[in-house]
Amino acid sequence: MGRATKNDLIIKYQNEFESRFKDKTYCTAIAPGRINIIGEHTDYNLGLAMPIAIDRWICSIVSIRKDNKIRIYSTNFDEQIFLSIDQLDEQTENWKKYVFGCIQVFINKYNINIGFNILIGGNIPIGFGMSSSASLEVSLLSSLHSACKIHIDYHAVLELSNKVEKEFLGIQSGVLDQYASIFSKKNKPILIDFSSLTHTYVNSNIRGASWLIVNSMVQRVLAESKYNERVNECQLALKVINASNEKNIKIYELKKYHLKQLKDYPILYKRIHHIISENNRVMLMKQALENRDLDLIGVILNESHVSLSKDYQVSCVEIDAIIQISRKQKGFYGGRIMGGGFGGCCICLVKNSQKSIFIENLVSEFNQRFSYDLKVENVNFTHGLTLVN
Ligand code: GLA
Repeated sequence: MGRATKNDLIIKYQNEFESRFKDKTYCTAIAPGRINIIGEHTDYNLGLAMPIAIDRWICSIVSIRKDNKIRIYSTNFDEQIFLSIDQLDEQTENWKKYVFGCIQVFINKYNINIGFNILIGGNIPIGFGMSSSASLEVSLLSSLHSACKIHIDYHAVLELSNKVEKEFLGIQSGVLDQYASIFSKKNKPILIDFSSLTHTYVNSNIRGASWLIVNSMVQRVLAESKYNERVNECQLALKVINASNEKNIKIYELKKYHLKQLKDYPILYKRIHHIISENNRVMLMKQALENRDLDLIGVILNESHVSLSKDYQVSCVEIDAIIQISRKQKGFYGGRIMGGGFGGCCICLVKNSQKSIFIENLVSEFNQRFSYDLKVENVNFTHGLTLVN
């Protein structure tokens, strides 16, 4: 049997909602995960990135209760929680922090004092860089808006999601994942400019090659990783540059010549070197995709990996091994670590005729070194957020 479609998931969770909550008046929102073709760690540096939604989703179903209590059921964790609004800031496991955080920021924004029944389920692997948490935020915040009959302003959803990440999870993240989950169009990667929060779509119609997502199975926990350290390093680098410059330069205005002002700060130099070169790679990738230049796409991906591994230092031994083994295989155009880093997935572009043998060789050589099997995820590109009823 193939993987569940978006409609399969909606029907399954709506049936489950009706039987669990004995309630037929509800709102449903289903938000996809994403991959990121290029532009890593550029979002919180107000740069450029090019993600697209994939056919894995988180679905949230919400109805209004007669009292002001909140009942939440997670199908993935098979756990039900019953609580009142003043318990939303309790310390708890990560998935609940996301859910409680969304409800809290939503009721605070609109001054709401009613209760909800909520069901959440989905098929995005958790903690492997395909953005399950952002999809949860987007779907839950959207279904809460619908249930309360509040017009959904997608920029407000981005803002509220970011508040959840910062205030409830302690992650200083950008909005790459949520942006892709909301605004994606089928088969059209989005080129996002985070300095203006605007986007355009890229015509990508490559032939004869496929994108593969290789899951290293190394689970990353952003809050405990060095993600915030990278955010702080970039802000510090900007301060150093501005201290030696009369102008008040913005991070997205940095050019290669500014790097000389960081020559006494080797770590900060590397971080900003990555950011400047990665933003350039996003624009190069747009051209390469539009020209269907598979070799150039591969070169850009490989350069991005080196930059993320050596300059930005967000890779890990398992991911570096995946790229190293891949580079020896026929039909491999290029690949790189994807997402926040410190584990998670790689994105690789591989010639269709070599795909099966590529996967076989990669999994087997990796297993010889690390004694476990990688998972190669087959993903299709899809639309962003869908609201039902
Ligand atoms: C994570 C964060 C995003 C982004 C990426 C790196 O996925 O949630 O905001 O910073 O890492 O590009």
